[in-house]
Amino acid sequence: MTPNFISIEELMRILGIETSCDETGIAIYDDKLGLLSHQLYSQVDLHADYGGVVPELASRDHVRKIVPLVQESMKEANCSKEEIDGVAYTQGPGLIGALLVGSSVGRSLAFAWGVPSVGVHHMEGHLLAPMLEDEKPEFPFVALLVSGGHTMLVRVDGIGEYELLGESLDDAAGEAFDKTAKLLGLDYPGGPRLAKLADKGEPSSYHFPRPMTDRPGLDFSFSGLKTYAANTIRDAEMTEQVKANIAFAFQQAVVDTLVIKCRRALKETGLKRLVIAGGVSANIHLRNELAELMQKLRGKVYYPSLAYCTDNGAMIAYAGLQRLKAGQTESIAASVKPRWPLDSLSSLN
Ligand code: KG4
Ligand code: ZN
Repeated sequence: MTPNFISIEELMRILGIETSCDETGIAIYDDKLGLLSHQLYSQVDLHADYGGVVPELASRDHVRKIVPLVQESMKEANCSKEEIDGVAYTQGPGLIGALLVGSSVGRSLAFAWGVPSVGVHHMEGHLLAPMLEDEKPEFPFVALLVSGGHTMLVRVDGIGEYELLGESLDDAAGEAFDKTAKLLGLDYPGGPRLAKLADKGEPSSYHFPRPMTDRPGLDFSFSGLKTYAANTIRDAEMTEQVKANIAFAFQQAVVDTLVIKCRRALKETGLKRLVIAGGVSANIHLRNELAELMQKLRGKVYYPSLAYCTDNGAMIAYAGLQRLKAGQTESIAASVKPRWPLDSLSSLN
């Protein structure tokens, strides 16, 4: 039986499902009314004892949480199943078991409701998250995507028109934050905890390197910074203040490196708009420094509000809506893509 696909003009209200890692995110986005519901269940407590995400536990917990969260979301949006015009789910990249939960539930709901479904690229979701805000960036722009799994600079000319300018050759920025936080004895997830500790640090007590900034190009490398942190921690007489000083120096090095590369990318492309998204874009220090850079360059920086920096269903609903509106369809046998290059996506034009 083939679902009764509705005409593209009628597509207005989308259920979005995010399950690529350790957050079950469900949202309902309406083309005219905006975000009607945003539900998030974080598995942080579940993985904390292990110091990182345990993929099998993540999958099992998504299974437990996903349907109740969909119900909660429909209630929050005061929306019946007849009012949902399509379902968007994260198709990749991410943990395969976790992705399979969201894609199976998403495609089953779409099939049962007789509406189309669409698999969304997780990083496209992050990239478009600033579009959930009132002030949306116009194309073209440069996007800095900084999450736990990816660090990328992308030239964005439209939805699906992505030119990769540079990326991390090893650890992602978020991953470096998390690993350094672990070395400092902070609990998972370390990124936000390290940032908080850095607030108490004394500037100039340590100086960390700014990797790959002394040579041309837009690629990143953060694993050396983590090793530098490990050596500094090994050689230091640890007190709470020393810990905070190291956190400060580490954060400053990552932020400076990202700012230097953003400035370079803007210069190379001649663009004046910068979008920053992904979990690390919640870092206040990074947001402030990039705002300062863009002021100097007489350009503008756009970020999602804090709730939509880290993983969420709203960004998936938004990206899925754009793709469904453009007439993108998928086969009933669509499968997940744990690895999926962003620049392989199709343009909507
Ligand atoms: O986008 P996201 O929620 O998940 C992935 O797609 O990976 O990003 C999570 C990453 C984690 O590494 C986390 O430590 C980092 O974002 N993160 C932060 C902050 N908030 C989240 N890193 C630095 N400062 C923060 N305030
Ligand atoms: Zn993410």
